[in-house]
Amino acid sequence: MKDEIRTDIRPAVLKDAEQVFNLIRSHQEDLISRPIGDIIQNIDRFIVCEVEGRVVGCAAWHILPEIGEPERASVEIQSVAVDQAYRRHHIGTRIVSRILTDIRRFDPAQAIVLTFAPEFFTSLGFKVIPKTQVMHKLYMGCINCTKHANPFTCPEIAMALDFRKPSYP
Ligand SMILES: CC(C)(COP(=O)(O)OP(=O)(O)OC[C@H]1O[C@@H](n2cnc3c(N)ncnc32)[C@H](O)[C@@H]1OP(=O)(O)O)[C@@H](O)C(=O)NCCC(=O)NCCS
Repeated sequence: MKDEIRTDIRPAVLKDAEQVFNLIRSHQEDLISRPIGDIIQNIDRFIVCEVEGRVVGCAAWHILPEIGEPERASVEIQSVAVDQAYRRHHIGTRIVSRILTDIRRFDPAQAIVLTFAPEFFTSLGFKVIPKTQVMHKLYMGCINCTKHANPFTCPEIAMALDFRKPSYP
């Protein structure tokens, strides 16, 4: 960690919704924007980082079902953003680690992410996987993407953290 900053990593509450909305919207190059209504409806799936009363980081999760094999469901990590001024203080690491701990109660097979920040997710133990392994995500998320016509030519990288591996605590 560079300098010490007083950070509070915590579950989001409704009053955070507008700041979360603005944080996600300010990263349109890297993240799919989310309507405020979607953020409010899913506020219980967001973890935020607060510094001096301001939300400077957020991330959320979402279950991707495997129909017929519910125990093989994946959890997608979404909407990961840290305000530019607070980067490289391990805030992103602490937010996503909190989500990875919280979602273990559902005993999912893996966490997955589609990302332009592979180094960040590698540092959390994620490995690059072929996009063909996340077809459910492509159908549910990429189908509404307005940036790329084809998810296989989109430069986002698919990554997974396998919870079934004995090496994972
Ligand atoms: C990706 C992002 C969330 C990282 O947040 P952060 O709080 O700065 O990340 P951390 O400080 O926790 O970084 C942890 C490790 O990830 C790696 N890392 C993070 N950002 C990196 C970068 N820009 N380049 C290379 N490695 C990086 C490093 O190994 C880092 O450890 P170190 O600083 O001790 O070397 C932030 O850069 C961001 O908001 N980016 C724009 C939105 C985005 O791309 N989100 C991910 C899409 S799902």
